[in-house]
Amino acid sequence: MKTEWYKNAIIYQIYPFSFMDSDNDGWGDIEGIISRLDYVKDLGVTAIWFSPLYESPDYDYGYDISDYKAIDKKFGTMADFDRLLEECHKRGLKVIMDMVINHTSIEHPWFKSAVSSKDSPYRDYYIIHEGKRENGKLLPPSNWDSSFTGSAWERIGDSDDFYLHLFCREQADLNWENPEVRRQIIDILNFWLDKGVDGFRFDVFNMFSKVYPIQDDTSKAPVTKGGQFFIDGPRMHEFLRQLNAESLSLYDTYTVGESYLPSKEAALEYVRKDNHELDSIFNFRHLEADNIKGLKFFWKPFNLLQFKSGLFEPQSDTYGIGWNTLVLENHDCPRAVSRFGIDTKHYRYEAATMLATITYMGFGIPFIYMGQEIGMVNCPFDSIDEMKDPVSHFVYDLMKSYHMPAKLAFSFIRYGARDHARVPMAWDDSVNGGFNKGKAPWQKVNPFCSEINVEKDLRTDRSIYRYFQSLLSLKKNNSCAVYGKTVEYDHDNRRIVAYSREHEGKKLFIVGNFSKKNTTYVLPGEFKDASILLNNYEKLDRDASTLKLRPYQAVVLEV
Ligand code: GLC
Repeated sequence: MKTEWYKNAIIYQIYPFSFMDSDNDGWGDIEGIISRLDYVKDLGVTAIWFSPLYESPDYDYGYDISDYKAIDKKFGTMADFDRLLEECHKRGLKVIMDMVINHTSIEHPWFKSAVSSKDSPYRDYYIIHEGKRENGKLLPPSNWDSSFTGSAWERIGDSDDFYLHLFCREQADLNWENPEVRRQIIDILNFWLDKGVDGFRFDVFNMFSKVYPIQDDTSKAPVTKGGQFFIDGPRMHEFLRQLNAESLSLYDTYTVGESYLPSKEAALEYVRKDNHELDSIFNFRHLEADNIKGLKFFWKPFNLLQFKSGLFEPQSDTYGIGWNTLVLENHDCPRAVSRFGIDTKHYRYEAATMLATITYMGFGIPFIYMGQEIGMVNCPFDSIDEMKDPVSHFVYDLMKSYHMPAKLAFSFIRYGARDHARVPMAWDDSVNGGFNKGKAPWQKVNPFCSEINVEKDLRTDRSIYRYFQSLLSLKKNNSCAVYGKTVEYDHDNRRIVAYSREHEGKKLFIVGNFSKKNTTYVLPGEFKDASILLNNYEKLDRDASTLKLRPYQAVVLEV
């Protein structure tokens, strides 16, 4: 039943709010997506992951679902979705749905019923506990933190009960201990699979299982207090296997889990093929190389060695065990060319293509976030009021509450904000970057879109999109690039990223100059005479086995 089509897949992520607005109401929509499918297909991708399209009150922009079997009105109707699915399949594109099942919206009928009465049949769908009384004061049931700042517990009205929310207070955690909840979830998965979707991206999946009884976290947890009781919880593997047995394995699916700070051991178990849990999980460790402990707002000088360890270790860990993923951007990250100490003003083309080459030629499935293929940059937000993401506001307010000056607090937020990736896609230099016909979009338009847009990129000699086409075609059609084992070279080199991929006697060598200085690199002996398969410059300055790499130059060689 399983064809494992995902192994040489290339996946493009669309954030529907901001891709294309066909009816000029300021929100992206399904009709808009359909009108741009040829553009996506021509890039060379083989599947699309859609960030949530379901009905949602949008406290967390789609990641708070109030009806899992309905399309949100601003995006269109279920008939529109059916057509989108058909249009994707017609073009040979697989469709991956985002599944946000750690929590539901507080506007989901289950939750509304659960909090309406202690006797509600849905009460046990959520994690509802009585608070603690200390010196006559009512406190939450435990000291756990929400990942989005503040307590993870919210009081229900003026009762003594609280519900758990590991994210916004409008996102109530489901109680996966309740078999009825799991049955409902399986029913939802099968609803979409019966429609013909090809797989799922599971949102923050490694928080489904919690440790009971609920207790305080007395450890010195550096990031989120309580994490030891809700990350990689005790029943995680069992729950995933149930989803597999009763849903995923019955169709030709692909699954990718978004894990939140997983332990290395758990990460491997989730993707171990014989475990029948997930096909892959996201690895983001390399994206922590310019911030402190993965806290994206707290930047630090970029550390290339950390980037390389984060990128390569999961490739060797998963090789032969499961499948890996390769990510540079998504809707939760700033734009890649605007970080990692890159001189994007002078070398945007070189850096965008170098980053893609060194990342996507590795072992795993490339994930491309909309706009990355034209090298979109961060949006120069002028104030916190221009930012829509609640997390930007929560963290800003938190910093202010510690008396951090507003300007400094904003500079941190602006470094790591999720808002950068969520501004409208830049199609051309017309009004609103061609996202629509002039109605103010829900989110600020990046002023750079007059310079950086699809139409202009495709017109230049140095088109990032065209380079991506060559890169992706090489990646998916070269068996070594798909199945080869990755071996890193010269890890301690602070400018160069270098590795080989080897499969059935064939070898590739990938080398990139992760700096704006000309850099010399001596090829390992066996690659001395290797021929060039791909180069993001016109020429490669080469003297026997010595490469003289130009700023952000990257090449793929073959022996
Ligand atoms: C994931 C999503 C993010 C969302 C969070 C809570 O991390 O990618 O956008 O805010 O989960 O659902």
